[in-house]
Amino acid sequence: MGVMRIGHINLRVLDMEAALKHYEGVLGLIRVDEDADGNVYLKGWDEWDKYSVILSPADQAGMNHVAFKVRRDTDLDALREKVEAYGISTEMVPPGTLRDCGRALKFNLPSGHEFYLYAQKAFVGKAVGVTNPEPWPDGLKGAGVHWLDHALLMCELDPEKGVNKVAENTKFMEEALDFRVAEQVMVGPDHSIQAATWMFRTSTPHDIAFVGGPKMGLHHVAFFLDEWNDVLKAADIMAKNKIKMDVTPQRHGITRGYTIYFFDPSGNRNETFAGLGYLTQPDMPTITWTEENLWRGIFYHTGEEAGEFTDVYT
Ligand SMILES: [Fe+2]
Repeated sequence: MGVMRIGHINLRVLDMEAALKHYEGVLGLIRVDEDADGNVYLKGWDEWDKYSVILSPADQAGMNHVAFKVRRDTDLDALREKVEAYGISTEMVPPGTLRDCGRALKFNLPSGHEFYLYAQKAFVGKAVGVTNPEPWPDGLKGAGVHWLDHALLMCELDPEKGVNKVAENTKFMEEALDFRVAEQVMVGPDHSIQAATWMFRTSTPHDIAFVGGPKMGLHHVAFFLDEWNDVLKAADIMAKNKIKMDVTPQRHGITRGYTIYFFDPSGNRNETFAGLGYLTQPDMPTITWTEENLWRGIFYHTGEEAGEFTDVYT
C-alpha cells in the first residue's frame, strides 16, 4: 500500500518555553516526551501514535524534516528501490534514529527538504480509547486541534533560470511515492509553469503541498479542526493570547478548506485547517487554477493578495 499519511514534522524554535506555551496552550497539542537534547514531542488528541510534532531548540526557525508513515516495514524496501531508481540517494537509518520509531528511509526531495519514511512508531492511543469512546476527551487546552494535517513547503522557482523545484518535487512524489495531484496553479506564458501543487495519499485534498518562491523553506504546518465554528473559536483563542494572525478566518478556493494562518513565537507559520474540503479519489482529474485566479484560489472571499503571505516564511 506504500505511504499512508503524514506522520510528524520537526520544527525549529528559538525559545522552547514560548513555543510550548503556543503549541500546548493555544493549539492544544499534548506534550508526550522530551529527550536529552531538549527536543520536545507533542501529539494531537485525535492521533493514535506517540507524536506528530517535534520541537527542536535552534537559533533559526524553520523545518528540520517531515516524515510520512508507510503501511508495512517491507514498503520501506520497495520505496527505497523506487526512490533510488528515480535518481535520489537514500539512507536507511536504524530504529530509534527517529525517537520511538522503527527503521526509517531518509532522503532529500529535489527541492532539498529532508524527508523520512517510517513504518512503525510507538502507539499510545487516544484518551477516549477504543471501546464505546466519547466524541472528545476532557481537559483539552486552547483550540484543541485534532491532528497534524499537512505541510506546505516552499520550493525554489525561477523560470528565467529554468529552475522549478515545485515541478521536480511533484513529478518525484507522483512517480516514486505514488502521490497524486489534487490541485495545481499554472502561471506564465500559456499557463505552462507549474507554480504550486497540492498532493494526496489519503482521501483529503492534500497531505503535502509545494509552492514556488525565491528559496526553499517551510511556508506553514497545518492542524485539523472539525468545522467552521471551531475555526472561529480558535481565532478567539488566538486573539486572547495576542497571537500574530496572518489571515483571519477565511475559505480557501483551493481544497475548499476553512482556514486561519498565524505564527508561532519563532515565526513559523501555522494553520488551523477545518472541513473535509472534498473527498479525493485516485481517479479524480487534477483541478487547475490559472494565474489570474490565483488569489481567489488561496483566499476565496477577498480574492486578494495578503501582504506577507508569499514573502514571509521560514
Ligand atoms: Fe495549508
